[in-house]
Amino acid sequence: MKIACALTAAAVVLTAIVLGHAPALGAGDASHGEELYQGCQDCHSLDTNDIGPKHRGVFGRKAGSVPDYSYSPAVKNSGITWTDDTLDRWLTDPQKFLPGSRMFYHLDSAKDRADVIEYLKQRAK
Ligand code: HEC
Repeated sequence: MKIACALTAAAVVLTAIVLGHAPALGAGDASHGEELYQGCQDCHSLDTNDIGPKHRGVFGRKAGSVPDYSYSPAVKNSGITWTDDTLDRWLTDPQKFLPGSRMFYHLDSAKDRADVIEYLKQRAK
């Protein structure tokens, strides 16, 4: 009986330790995202329009809404907002998600996509 109690207590403590240190479910790794973002910088930066629109604050923003960037109608008229879900689909295959769009780049790994999205999320201001 005593042993069972001790084991239960140990299990509770262990669970608390594991949960306490686990990152929030689904959250990406922003510092790895920053490394991956170097691949985006052929066309994007946070604060200047380039081949692609500037990215600061893109998370939670309406697609195609940087005022001084000339988007394809596909993005401009998509009516979507950039969230975890829409960014993940966009970065998986932009042409499939918004046919006629003009971004020719994608990330194969779901983990990489989550990490880049986390990086963008943290570059809100
Ligand atoms: C080869 C150039 C290129 C690369 C590399 C690239 N993009 Fe793009 N991106 C574009 C272009 C061009 C657009 C505008 C698309 C349109 O208007 O159809 C765009 C649009 C976007 C948008 C929509 C922004 C808005 O204001 O609605 C997001 C988000 C985005 N890119 C994220 C990324 C991320 C993240 C990466 C790196 C993983 C990346 N892009 C890499 C060219 C690129």
